[in-house]
Amino acid sequence: KKTENQMLVIFGASGDLTARKLIPALFNLYVAKHLPENFVVLGVSRSALTDESFRDHVVYESDYLKEKLKKLGKDEIKGFADKLFYEDLGESYDTDYKTLRKRVEDLKATYKTSGNIIYYLSTPPTLYETIAHNLAEAGMNTQNNGWKRLIVEKPFGYSLETAKNLNKGLHQYFTEPQIYRIDHYLGKETVQNLLVTRFANSIFEPLWNRNYIEHVEITNAESVGVEKRGGYYDKSGALRDMFQNHLLQIVSLVVMEPPIGAEAEEIRNEKVKALKSLRVMRDEEALFQNTIRAQYVESVVDGKKVKGYREEDGVDPDSTTETYAAIKFYVDNWRWHGVPFYVRTAKRMPTKVTEVVIHFKEPHHQIFNEPGMHRKDNKLIIRIQPDEGILIKFGVKVPGQGFKVERANLDFYYSSLAETYVMEAYERLLLDAMQGDATLYARADEVEAAWEFVDPILNYWQKGKDVRMYGYSAGVWGPENADELFEGKGFWRNPGEN
Ligand code: BG6
Repeated sequence: KKTENQMLVIFGASGDLTARKLIPALFNLYVAKHLPENFVVLGVSRSALTDESFRDHVVYESDYLKEKLKKLGKDEIKGFADKLFYEDLGESYDTDYKTLRKRVEDLKATYKTSGNIIYYLSTPPTLYETIAHNLAEAGMNTQNNGWKRLIVEKPFGYSLETAKNLNKGLHQYFTEPQIYRIDHYLGKETVQNLLVTRFANSIFEPLWNRNYIEHVEITNAESVGVEKRGGYYDKSGALRDMFQNHLLQIVSLVVMEPPIGAEAEEIRNEKVKALKSLRVMRDEEALFQNTIRAQYVESVVDGKKVKGYREEDGVDPDSTTETYAAIKFYVDNWRWHGVPFYVRTAKRMPTKVTEVVIHFKEPHHQIFNEPGMHRKDNKLIIRIQPDEGILIKFGVKVPGQGFKVERANLDFYYSSLAETYVMEAYERLLLDAMQGDATLYARADEVEAAWEFVDPILNYWQKGKDVRMYGYSAGVWGPENADELFEGKGFWRNPGEN
Protein backbone atom coordinates (compact mmCIF):
# COMPACT_ATOMS: atom_id res chain seq x y z
CA LYS A 1 0.00 0.00 0.00
CA LYS A 2 1.13 3.54 -0.63
CA THR A 3 1.87 5.91 2.23
CA GLU A 4 1.23 9.46 1.11
CA ASN A 5 3.37 12.39 2.18
CA GLN A 6 2.13 13.67 5.52
CA MET A 7 2.83 15.22 8.90
CA LEU A 8 2.31 13.63 12.31
CA VAL A 9 1.49 16.02 15.12
CA ILE A 10 1.82 14.41 18.56
CA PHE A 11 0.08 16.12 21.48
CA GLY A 12 1.65 15.13 24.78
CA ALA A 13 5.03 14.70 23.11
CA SER A 14 7.09 15.10 26.25
CA GLY A 15 5.24 12.21 27.88
CA ASP A 16 6.24 8.64 28.45
CA LEU A 17 4.30 7.04 25.58
CA THR A 18 6.02 9.19 22.96
CA ALA A 19 9.50 8.23 24.11
CA ARG A 20 8.68 4.63 24.94
CA LYS A 21 6.45 3.58 22.05
CA LEU A 22 5.74 6.17 19.37
CA ILE A 23 9.24 7.37 18.49
CA PRO A 24 10.73 3.83 18.56
CA ALA A 25 7.90 2.68 16.28
CA LEU A 26 8.53 5.56 13.87
CA PHE A 27 12.23 4.86 14.04
CA ASN A 28 11.69 1.24 13.00
CA LEU A 29 9.39 2.32 10.20
CA TYR A 30 12.08 4.72 9.06
CA VAL A 31 14.78 2.04 9.08
CA ALA A 32 12.50 -0.33 7.18
CA LYS A 33 11.86 2.49 4.67
CA HIS A 34 8.13 2.57 5.33
CA LEU A 35 7.92 6.32 5.96
CA PRO A 36 6.89 8.48 3.03
CA GLU A 37 9.51 10.61 1.35
CA ASN A 38 8.23 13.89 2.70
CA PHE A 39 7.38 13.37 6.31
CA VAL A 40 7.87 15.24 9.57
CA VAL A 41 6.81 14.78 13.17
CA LEU A 42 5.83 17.79 15.23
CA GLY A 43 5.85 17.13 18.95
CA VAL A 44 3.56 19.41 20.94
CA SER A 45 3.25 19.77 24.69
CA ARG A 46 3.61 22.10 27.65
CA SER A 47 7.26 21.39 28.42
CA ALA A 48 9.85 23.99 27.50
CA LEU A 49 11.74 21.99 24.88
CA THR A 50 13.29 23.00 21.58
CA ASP A 51 13.68 20.95 18.40
CA GLU A 52 17.18 20.04 19.58
CA SER A 53 16.33 19.10 23.15
CA PHE A 54 13.29 17.14 21.94
CA ARG A 55 15.55 15.16 19.57
CA ASP A 56 17.98 14.54 22.42
CA HIS A 57 15.19 13.38 24.70
CA VAL A 58 13.45 10.98 22.33
CA VAL A 59 16.33 9.89 20.07
CA TYR A 60 19.97 10.59 20.97
CA GLU A 61 19.64 10.11 24.72
CA SER A 62 16.68 7.77 24.71
CA ASP A 63 16.90 4.63 26.80
CA TYR A 64 14.41 3.02 24.45
CA LEU A 65 16.55 3.47 21.34
CA LYS A 66 19.96 2.85 22.88
CA GLU A 67 20.42 -0.64 21.47
CA LYS A 68 19.09 0.28 18.06
CA LEU A 69 21.29 3.35 17.75
CA LYS A 70 24.38 1.21 18.23
CA LYS A 71 23.58 -0.67 15.05
CA LEU A 72 23.22 2.37 12.81
CA GLY A 73 25.53 4.95 11.35
CA LYS A 74 25.50 8.56 12.53
CA ASP A 75 24.10 9.87 9.26
CA GLU A 76 21.23 7.48 9.33
CA ILE A 77 20.30 8.40 12.90
CA LYS A 78 20.55 12.08 12.05
CA GLY A 79 18.39 11.45 8.99
CA PHE A 80 15.63 10.30 11.32
CA ALA A 81 16.18 12.83 14.11
CA ASP A 82 16.08 15.70 11.61
CA LYS A 83 12.47 14.82 10.85
CA LEU A 84 11.45 15.66 14.41
CA PHE A 85 10.36 19.13 15.53
CA TYR A 86 8.86 20.54 18.67
CA GLU A 87 6.35 23.25 19.53
CA ASP A 88 5.89 24.45 23.11
CA LEU A 89 2.22 25.20 23.75
CA GLY A 90 2.96 27.24 26.85
CA GLU A 91 0.88 26.67 29.93
CA SER A 92 -2.19 25.00 28.62
CA TYR A 93 -3.61 22.84 25.84
CA ASP A 94 -6.64 25.08 25.99
CA THR A 95 -5.19 28.01 24.21
CA ASP A 96 -5.42 29.60 20.82
CA TYR A 97 -3.76 27.28 18.27
CA LYS A 98 -2.88 30.12 15.85
CA THR A 99 0.85 29.88 16.58
CA LEU A 100 0.66 26.11 16.30
CA ARG A 101 -1.10 26.45 12.98
CA LYS A 102 1.57 28.80 11.71
CA ARG A 103 4.26 26.26 12.72
CA VAL A 104 2.43 23.45 10.95
CA GLU A 105 2.11 25.51 7.79
CA ASP A 106 5.76 26.50 7.82
CA LEU A 107 6.86 22.89 8.20
CA LYS A 108 4.45 21.83 5.50
CA ALA A 109 5.87 24.43 3.08
CA THR A 110 9.52 23.72 3.90
CA TYR A 111 9.31 19.93 3.83
CA LYS A 112 6.52 19.60 1.25
CA THR A 113 4.56 17.23 3.45
CA SER A 114 1.24 18.14 1.73
CA GLY A 115 -1.83 19.01 3.76
CA ASN A 116 -2.26 15.45 5.07
CA ILE A 117 -2.02 15.46 8.84
CA ILE A 118 -2.47 12.95 11.65
CA TYR A 119 -3.08 14.43 15.09
CA TYR A 120 -2.06 11.90 17.71
CA LEU A 121 -3.52 12.60 21.16
CA SER A 122 -1.20 11.15 23.75
CA THR A 123 -2.43 13.41 26.55
CA PRO A 124 -4.71 12.64 29.47
CA PRO A 125 -8.13 11.80 27.97
CA THR A 126 -9.76 14.75 29.75
CA LEU A 127 -8.02 16.94 27.16
CA TYR A 128 -9.20 15.12 24.02
CA GLU A 129 -12.27 17.20 23.44
CA THR A 130 -10.51 20.46 24.26
CA ILE A 131 -7.77 19.73 21.75
CA ALA A 132 -10.24 18.67 19.06
CA HIS A 133 -12.22 21.85 19.69
CA ASN A 134 -9.17 24.09 19.49
CA LEU A 135 -7.95 22.41 16.33
CA ALA A 136 -11.34 23.10 14.79
CA GLU A 137 -11.33 26.72 16.01
CA ALA A 138 -8.02 27.24 14.27
CA GLY A 139 -9.38 25.65 11.09
CA MET A 140 -6.94 22.78 11.39
CA ASN A 141 -9.52 20.01 10.90
CA THR A 142 -10.63 20.98 7.40
CA GLN A 143 -9.98 18.45 4.70
CA ASN A 144 -9.97 20.88 1.75
CA ASN A 145 -6.23 20.65 1.32
CA GLY A 146 -5.44 17.09 2.40
CA TRP A 147 -6.95 14.60 4.82
CA LYS A 148 -6.91 15.05 8.60
CA ARG A 149 -6.98 12.08 10.99
CA LEU A 150 -7.18 11.92 14.74
CA ILE A 151 -5.63 9.06 16.73
CA VAL A 152 -6.75 8.72 20.34
CA GLU A 153 -5.36 6.50 23.07
CA LYS A 154 -7.45 4.61 25.61
CA PRO A 155 -9.19 5.03 27.99
CA PHE A 156 -12.14 5.87 25.75
CA GLY A 157 -14.32 7.01 28.60
CA TYR A 158 -14.60 5.91 32.17
CA SER A 159 -18.08 4.40 31.92
CA LEU A 160 -20.74 3.92 29.26
CA GLU A 161 -22.02 7.44 29.75
CA THR A 162 -18.63 9.15 29.60
CA ALA A 163 -17.66 7.04 26.57
CA LYS A 164 -20.78 8.20 24.77
CA ASN A 165 -20.06 11.79 25.72
CA LEU A 166 -16.51 11.50 24.48
CA ASN A 167 -17.64 10.08 21.14
CA LYS A 168 -20.24 12.83 20.81
CA GLY A 169 -17.68 15.46 21.77
CA LEU A 170 -15.15 14.31 19.18
CA HIS A 171 -17.81 13.93 16.50
CA GLN A 172 -18.48 17.65 16.68
CA TYR A 173 -15.10 18.28 15.10
CA PHE A 174 -14.06 15.05 13.37
CA THR A 175 -16.19 12.51 11.51
CA GLU A 176 -16.09 8.86 12.58
CA PRO A 177 -13.94 7.77 9.59
CA GLN A 178 -11.37 10.39 10.62
CA ILE A 179 -11.08 9.00 14.17
CA TYR A 180 -8.68 6.15 14.95
CA ARG A 181 -9.06 4.68 18.45
CA ILE A 182 -5.91 2.76 19.18
CA ASP A 183 -6.00 -0.54 21.07
CA HIS A 184 -2.48 -1.89 20.94
CA TYR A 185 -3.66 -5.48 21.39
CA LEU A 186 -5.12 -5.30 17.89
CA GLY A 187 -1.61 -4.50 16.66
CA LYS A 188 -0.32 -7.83 17.97
CA GLU A 189 0.28 -10.39 15.22
CA THR A 190 -1.26 -13.21 17.19
CA VAL A 191 -4.44 -11.27 17.84
CA GLN A 192 -4.80 -10.64 14.11
CA ASN A 193 -4.00 -14.28 13.52
CA LEU A 194 -7.20 -15.23 15.32
CA LEU A 195 -8.99 -14.07 12.16
CA VAL A 196 -6.70 -16.05 9.89
CA THR A 197 -6.85 -19.20 12.02
CA ARG A 198 -10.62 -19.10 11.95
CA PHE A 199 -11.38 -17.88 8.45
CA ALA A 200 -8.48 -19.03 6.26
CA ASN A 201 -8.74 -22.69 7.28
CA SER A 202 -11.44 -25.26 6.90
CA ILE A 203 -10.51 -27.39 9.90
CA PHE A 204 -11.39 -25.05 12.78
CA GLU A 205 -14.50 -23.15 11.79
CA PRO A 206 -16.81 -26.18 11.45
CA LEU A 207 -16.07 -26.96 15.11
CA TRP A 208 -16.25 -23.36 16.30
CA ASN A 209 -19.65 -23.51 17.95
CA ARG A 210 -21.81 -24.84 20.76
CA ASN A 211 -21.93 -28.35 19.32
CA TYR A 212 -18.23 -28.95 19.83
CA ILE A 213 -16.96 -26.33 22.25
CA GLU A 214 -17.37 -26.94 25.95
CA HIS A 215 -16.08 -23.59 27.14
CA VAL A 216 -13.74 -20.79 26.21
CA GLU A 217 -11.11 -19.44 28.55
CA ILE A 218 -8.99 -16.33 28.17
CA THR A 219 -6.17 -15.44 30.53
CA ASN A 220 -4.21 -12.23 30.57
CA ALA A 221 -1.57 -12.22 33.26
CA GLU A 222 1.18 -9.76 34.00
CA SER A 223 3.96 -10.34 36.50
CA VAL A 224 4.46 -6.62 37.11
CA GLY A 225 2.45 -4.65 39.64
CA VAL A 226 1.18 -1.12 39.02
CA GLU A 227 4.75 0.22 38.81
CA LYS A 228 4.82 4.01 38.76
CA ARG A 229 1.23 4.33 37.60
CA GLY A 230 -0.48 3.91 40.98
CA GLY A 231 -2.29 7.24 40.70
CA TYR A 232 -3.79 6.40 37.32
CA TYR A 233 -4.43 2.75 38.10
CA ASP A 234 -6.23 3.35 41.37
CA LYS A 235 -8.91 5.30 39.50
CA SER A 236 -9.08 2.69 36.81
CA GLY A 237 -8.60 -0.94 37.93
CA ALA A 238 -8.23 -4.13 35.92
CA LEU A 239 -11.72 -4.03 34.44
CA ARG A 240 -11.26 -0.59 32.89
CA ASP A 241 -7.55 -0.84 32.21
CA MET A 242 -7.52 -4.20 30.41
CA PHE A 243 -10.90 -5.92 30.22
CA GLN A 244 -13.12 -3.27 28.65
CA ASN A 245 -10.68 -2.78 25.80
CA HIS A 246 -7.96 -5.37 25.14
CA LEU A 247 -9.78 -8.46 26.42
CA LEU A 248 -13.15 -7.67 24.93
CA GLN A 249 -11.38 -7.03 21.63
CA ILE A 250 -9.97 -10.55 21.81
CA VAL A 251 -13.40 -11.88 22.83
CA SER A 252 -15.00 -10.18 19.82
CA LEU A 253 -12.56 -11.89 17.44
CA VAL A 254 -13.24 -15.29 19.00
CA VAL A 255 -17.01 -14.79 19.01
CA MET A 256 -17.67 -12.99 15.70
CA GLU A 257 -19.36 -14.49 12.67
CA PRO A 258 -17.39 -14.77 9.43
CA PRO A 259 -17.32 -11.34 7.78
CA ILE A 260 -18.15 -11.10 4.08
CA GLY A 261 -14.71 -9.67 3.33
CA ALA A 262 -11.61 -8.32 5.00
CA GLU A 263 -12.36 -4.60 4.63
CA ALA A 264 -12.33 -2.50 7.79
CA GLU A 265 -16.09 -1.97 7.94
CA GLU A 266 -16.88 -5.59 7.13
CA ILE A 267 -14.76 -6.84 10.00
CA ARG A 268 -15.80 -4.12 12.43
CA ASN A 269 -19.50 -4.66 11.71
CA GLU A 270 -19.14 -8.28 12.79
CA LYS A 271 -17.17 -7.33 15.89
CA VAL A 272 -19.88 -4.93 17.00
CA LYS A 273 -22.50 -7.62 16.48
CA ALA A 274 -20.40 -10.00 18.57
CA LEU A 275 -20.03 -7.52 21.42
CA LYS A 276 -23.73 -6.78 21.35
CA SER A 277 -24.48 -10.46 21.77
CA LEU A 278 -22.67 -10.75 25.12
CA ARG A 279 -25.26 -11.31 27.80
CA VAL A 280 -25.25 -8.23 29.99
CA MET A 281 -25.53 -9.12 33.68
CA ARG A 282 -28.17 -6.94 35.25
CA ASP A 283 -29.37 -8.58 38.43
CA GLU A 284 -27.27 -8.75 41.57
CA GLU A 285 -27.39 -12.50 41.81
CA ALA A 286 -25.84 -12.93 38.38
CA LEU A 287 -23.24 -10.30 39.16
CA PHE A 288 -22.43 -11.95 42.46
CA GLN A 289 -22.03 -15.40 40.94
CA ASN A 290 -20.17 -14.52 37.80
CA THR A 291 -17.68 -11.86 38.76
CA ILE A 292 -14.65 -12.04 41.01
CA ARG A 293 -12.37 -9.20 41.96
CA ALA A 294 -9.22 -9.19 44.05
CA GLN A 295 -6.14 -7.22 45.02
CA TYR A 296 -2.58 -8.45 45.43
CA VAL A 297 -1.18 -8.34 48.91
CA GLU A 298 2.39 -8.19 50.14
CA SER A 299 4.47 -11.25 49.48
CA VAL A 300 7.93 -12.54 48.68
CA VAL A 301 8.55 -13.26 45.01
CA ASP A 302 11.86 -14.81 43.90
CA GLY A 303 13.35 -14.01 47.28
CA LYS A 304 12.34 -10.35 47.09
CA LYS A 305 9.72 -8.63 49.16
CA VAL A 306 6.94 -7.26 46.98
CA LYS A 307 4.56 -4.56 48.18
CA GLY A 308 0.85 -5.15 48.40
CA TYR A 309 -1.36 -3.06 46.10
CA ARG A 310 -2.61 -0.80 48.89
CA GLU A 311 0.97 0.05 49.83
CA GLU A 312 1.94 1.15 46.30
CA ASP A 313 2.74 4.80 45.64
CA GLY A 314 -0.28 6.79 44.55
CA VAL A 315 -2.74 4.15 45.79
CA ASP A 316 -5.30 4.89 48.50
CA PRO A 317 -4.50 2.70 51.57
CA ASP A 318 -8.22 1.80 51.72
CA SER A 319 -8.51 1.31 47.99
CA THR A 320 -11.14 -1.06 46.61
CA THR A 321 -9.73 -0.95 43.11
CA GLU A 322 -9.23 -4.45 41.69
CA THR A 323 -5.91 -5.69 40.31
CA TYR A 324 -7.53 -9.00 39.42
CA ALA A 325 -10.81 -9.46 37.59
CA ALA A 326 -12.38 -12.73 36.49
CA ILE A 327 -15.70 -12.76 34.68
CA LYS A 328 -17.87 -15.63 33.50
CA PHE A 329 -20.45 -14.82 30.86
CA TYR A 330 -22.57 -16.22 28.05
CA VAL A 331 -23.06 -15.12 24.49
CA ASP A 332 -26.67 -14.92 23.39
CA ASN A 333 -26.66 -16.05 19.81
CA TRP A 334 -27.16 -19.20 17.79
CA ARG A 335 -23.49 -20.17 17.62
CA TRP A 336 -22.64 -19.79 21.28
CA HIS A 337 -25.84 -20.60 23.14
CA GLY A 338 -24.99 -22.26 26.45
CA VAL A 339 -21.18 -22.05 26.09
CA PRO A 340 -19.60 -20.31 29.09
CA PHE A 341 -16.73 -17.88 28.59
CA TYR A 342 -14.23 -17.38 31.40
CA VAL A 343 -12.02 -14.33 31.09
CA ARG A 344 -9.52 -13.07 33.64
CA THR A 345 -6.88 -10.38 33.78
CA ALA A 346 -4.49 -9.49 36.57
CA LYS A 347 -1.27 -7.90 37.73
CA ARG A 348 1.37 -9.63 39.91
CA MET A 349 0.77 -13.12 38.57
CA PRO A 350 3.57 -15.71 38.45
CA THR A 351 4.39 -14.85 34.84
CA LYS A 352 3.44 -12.66 31.88
CA VAL A 353 1.18 -14.53 29.52
CA THR A 354 -1.90 -14.01 27.40
CA GLU A 355 -3.72 -16.93 25.85
CA VAL A 356 -7.06 -18.06 24.50
CA VAL A 357 -8.01 -21.66 25.22
CA ILE A 358 -10.80 -23.35 23.32
CA HIS A 359 -11.89 -26.40 25.32
CA PHE A 360 -13.65 -28.94 23.13
CA LYS A 361 -16.26 -31.35 24.38
CA GLU A 362 -15.27 -34.89 25.17
CA PRO A 363 -16.45 -37.55 22.74
CA HIS A 364 -20.08 -38.36 23.46
CA HIS A 365 -19.46 -42.05 23.74
CA GLN A 366 -16.31 -43.09 25.58
CA ILE A 367 -14.91 -46.47 24.64
CA PHE A 368 -11.43 -46.12 26.16
CA ASN A 369 -12.45 -45.79 29.73
CA GLU A 370 -9.68 -47.45 31.62
CA PRO A 371 -9.55 -46.29 35.21
CA GLY A 372 -6.83 -43.77 35.96
CA MET A 373 -6.71 -42.65 32.34
CA HIS A 374 -5.68 -39.06 31.63
CA ARG A 375 -8.45 -36.67 30.70
CA LYS A 376 -8.20 -36.47 26.97
CA ASP A 377 -10.31 -33.45 26.17
CA ASN A 378 -9.07 -31.54 23.17
CA LYS A 379 -7.81 -28.03 23.57
CA LEU A 380 -6.78 -25.41 21.09
CA ILE A 381 -4.48 -22.90 22.72
CA ILE A 382 -3.80 -19.63 21.00
CA ARG A 383 -0.81 -18.08 22.68
CA ILE A 384 -0.95 -14.33 22.20
CA GLN A 385 2.26 -13.65 24.13
CA PRO A 386 5.04 -14.60 24.86
CA ASP A 387 6.15 -17.69 22.79
CA GLU A 388 3.54 -16.62 20.27
CA GLY A 389 1.97 -19.62 18.62
CA ILE A 390 -0.79 -22.21 18.44
CA LEU A 391 -1.01 -25.49 20.28
CA ILE A 392 -3.44 -28.36 19.87
CA LYS A 393 -3.75 -30.92 22.61
CA PHE A 394 -5.18 -34.29 21.69
CA GLY A 395 -5.12 -37.92 22.79
CA VAL A 396 -2.79 -40.59 21.38
CA LYS A 397 -2.40 -44.23 22.17
CA VAL A 398 0.34 -45.21 24.56
CA PRO A 399 2.35 -47.99 22.87
CA GLY A 400 1.71 -51.40 24.33
CA GLN A 401 -1.21 -53.56 25.23
CA GLY A 402 -4.69 -52.21 25.62
CA PHE A 403 -5.81 -48.69 24.72
CA LYS A 404 -4.18 -46.37 27.13
CA VAL A 405 -4.56 -42.78 26.03
CA GLU A 406 -2.07 -40.00 26.65
CA ARG A 407 -2.23 -36.37 25.76
CA ALA A 408 0.06 -35.14 22.97
CA ASN A 409 0.73 -31.70 21.52
CA LEU A 410 0.82 -30.35 18.00
CA ASP A 411 2.40 -26.98 18.06
CA PHE A 412 3.38 -24.06 15.90
CA TYR A 413 5.54 -21.17 17.09
CA TYR A 414 5.83 -17.86 15.32
CA SER A 415 9.53 -17.87 16.03
CA SER A 416 9.85 -20.60 13.42
CA LEU A 417 9.01 -18.01 10.80
CA ALA A 418 12.39 -16.55 11.63
CA GLU A 419 12.98 -14.59 8.45
CA THR A 420 9.72 -12.75 8.80
CA TYR A 421 10.20 -9.46 10.54
CA VAL A 422 7.37 -9.09 13.03
CA MET A 423 6.33 -5.47 13.41
CA GLU A 424 5.64 -4.26 16.91
CA ALA A 425 2.04 -3.32 17.69
CA TYR A 426 2.58 0.43 17.52
CA GLU A 427 4.55 0.17 14.30
CA ARG A 428 1.84 -1.75 12.57
CA LEU A 429 -0.94 0.46 13.87
CA LEU A 430 0.80 3.75 13.07
CA LEU A 431 1.53 2.60 9.54
CA ASP A 432 -2.09 1.52 9.09
CA ALA A 433 -3.35 4.94 10.20
CA MET A 434 -0.84 6.64 7.90
CA GLN A 435 -2.32 4.61 5.06
CA GLY A 436 -5.92 5.20 6.11
CA ASP A 437 -6.64 1.61 7.11
CA ALA A 438 -8.88 1.51 10.20
CA THR A 439 -9.38 -2.26 10.37
CA LEU A 440 -7.34 -2.59 13.54
CA TYR A 441 -8.81 0.46 15.24
CA ALA A 442 -11.89 0.47 17.44
CA ARG A 443 -15.01 2.13 16.09
CA ALA A 444 -17.27 4.27 18.29
CA ASP A 445 -20.08 1.71 18.38
CA GLU A 446 -17.62 -1.07 19.27
CA VAL A 447 -16.34 0.90 22.25
CA GLU A 448 -19.86 1.66 23.42
CA ALA A 449 -20.97 -1.97 23.03
CA ALA A 450 -18.02 -3.06 25.20
CA TRP A 451 -18.99 -0.50 27.84
CA GLU A 452 -22.60 -1.76 27.80
CA PHE A 453 -21.29 -5.06 29.06
CA VAL A 454 -18.79 -3.68 31.57
CA ASP A 455 -20.82 -0.85 33.07
CA PRO A 456 -23.17 -2.94 35.26
CA ILE A 457 -20.21 -4.89 36.66
CA LEU A 458 -18.41 -1.69 37.60
CA ASN A 459 -21.52 -0.26 39.16
CA TYR A 460 -22.04 -3.41 41.15
CA TRP A 461 -18.46 -3.47 42.35
CA GLN A 462 -18.57 0.17 43.27
CA LYS A 463 -21.32 -0.55 45.71
CA GLY A 464 -18.44 -1.55 47.90
CA LYS A 465 -18.79 -3.37 51.13
CA ASP A 466 -21.35 -6.01 50.17
CA VAL A 467 -19.34 -7.14 47.21
CA ARG A 468 -16.61 -9.70 47.80
CA MET A 469 -13.05 -8.43 47.40
CA TYR A 470 -10.40 -11.12 47.72
CA GLY A 471 -6.71 -10.81 48.39
CA TYR A 472 -4.03 -12.89 46.67
CA SER A 473 -0.34 -13.00 47.41
CA ALA A 474 1.71 -11.26 44.77
CA GLY A 475 3.16 -13.98 42.55
CA VAL A 476 0.32 -16.54 42.62
CA TRP A 477 -2.49 -17.21 40.12
CA GLY A 478 -5.05 -15.04 41.90
CA PRO A 479 -7.48 -15.99 44.68
CA GLU A 480 -8.44 -19.66 44.98
CA ASN A 481 -12.07 -18.65 45.03
CA ALA A 482 -11.79 -17.78 41.34
CA ASP A 483 -12.26 -21.48 40.56
CA GLU A 484 -15.77 -21.17 42.01
CA LEU A 485 -16.84 -19.65 38.71
CA PHE A 486 -16.56 -23.15 37.23
CA GLU A 487 -19.13 -24.49 39.70
CA GLY A 488 -17.19 -27.70 40.29
CA LYS A 489 -16.94 -28.50 36.57
CA GLY A 490 -13.37 -27.39 36.07
CA PHE A 491 -10.80 -24.82 37.00
CA TRP A 492 -8.58 -22.21 35.41
CA ARG A 493 -5.77 -23.44 33.23
CA ASN A 494 -2.69 -21.83 34.68
CA PRO A 495 -0.35 -21.68 31.70
CA GLY A 496 2.70 -23.83 32.27
CA GLU A 497 0.97 -25.85 35.00
CA ASN A 498 -1.78 -27.91 33.42
C1 BG6 B 1 -1.96 -1.26 28.89
C2 BG6 B 1 -2.36 -1.17 30.32
O1 BG6 B 1 -3.02 -0.90 28.05
O2 BG6 B 1 -1.56 -2.59 28.59
C3 BG6 B 1 -1.24 -1.61 31.24
O3 BG6 B 1 -2.73 0.16 30.64
C4 BG6 B 1 -0.75 -2.98 30.83
O4 BG6 B 1 -1.66 -1.62 32.59
C5 BG6 B 1 -0.46 -3.05 29.33
O5 BG6 B 1 0.43 -3.25 31.56
C6 BG6 B 1 -0.16 -4.48 28.90
O6 BG6 B 1 0.26 -4.51 27.57
P1 BG6 B 1 1.14 -5.69 27.02
O7 BG6 B 1 1.28 -5.40 25.55
O8 BG6 B 1 2.43 -5.65 27.75
O9 BG6 B 1 0.39 -6.95 27.29
